Amino acid sequence: MADPSPLPVDSPLDTYLAHHRHGVDRALLRAVESLAPALPESWTQAVRAGVLSGGKRLRPLILVASSEAFGRTASEPLYDLAASVELIHAYSLMHDDLPCMDDAPLRRGRPTPHTRFGVQATALAGAALIPWAAHWAARSSEALALPESRRIAVVDELLDAAGAGGMVGGQALDLMGEGRALAEAELSQLHRLKTGALLTAPAVMGAIAAGASEDQWQSMVGFGLSLGLAFQVMDDVLDATASAETLGKEPSDADLEKSTYVLLLGVDGARRTAQDLVSRAEASLDRAGVEGHRLRQLSRFVLDRQH
Ligand code: IPE
Ligand code: IPE
Ligand code: MG
Ligand code: MG
Ligand code: MG
Repeated sequence: MADPSPLPVDSPLDTYLAHHRHGVDRALLRAVESLAPALPESWTQAVRAGVLSGGKRLRPLILVASSEAFGRTASEPLYDLAASVELIHAYSLMHDDLPCMDDAPLRRGRPTPHTRFGVQATALAGAALIPWAAHWAARSSEALALPESRRIAVVDELLDAAGAGGMVGGQALDLMGEGRALAEAELSQLHRLKTGALLTAPAVMGAIAAGASEDQWQSMVGFGLSLGLAFQVMDDVLDATASAETLGKEPSDADLEKSTYVLLLGVDGARRTAQDLVSRAEASLDRAGVEGHRLRQLSRFVLDRQH
């Protein structure tokens, strides 16, 4: 397939997001269709429900925007690389909603996969997505003709963010923290791991894929961690202020006795914290020498989103 035609640089954010979301969704469909023949039918249905059920696609969009900021424009293999992060995110939500975790009946406005296809099929289908995401990242880095050291770095970023020192570690802290009032330092560590890591990975992976320098990678780590924490602080705010209908998900953090930034600082204090974090994310872009028009807009989107 020919690469998509470039968008005018000054197109509105909505147009930009819709354009790249289309590329990401096609890549996710490719990933699911190639995995499906290896899976039993009930797992395939759970994978489709978990991966192809919408969502903001923020993590892959960050990867595309970060890559563009360092000079590599979108292409089919770049969308495939972006999709690898979303495969990990999708599995993390399938597992997050299981009865042994947040026991959630609703996600993205629909019944959760395990309520439709069973806990066993959803747990195993989710697990199958982890190596598939690694495979997809490795394959797309090769298709992008990245030097070997960068191919390894890209896959490492993804797997480190997904693992015990990233999202899985954060999920453990989250579950162990239920019913306890965590101090800000503990909560910020929890949020950085469970959510910040998987928003940092695409910022860094996009930079690596575009040939950014090591200093620029480090600045993008700072960008991603600040933005990722801001994203989870706003998730806490929305959880406390918007209806399950608007959010398309339940139960609430209060139902689950989770520690949140809203409990710690109140709604206004949490919003101010998120704003400060976005300013820090923007300062990291300055340090990376990124004009980063789109990355700045995406940072603002994290604050302004309604769900
Ligand atoms: C939900 O992530 C889980 C968190 C880390 C807060 P998103 O809000 O990005 O979920 P989708 O993919 O858009 O549904
Ligand atoms: C989950 O955090 C983050 C993951 C790693 C999946 P939450 O439990 O707060 O996410 P939501 O609110 O259910 O989307
Ligand atoms: Mg959770
Ligand atoms: Mg949850
Ligand atoms: Mg939440």
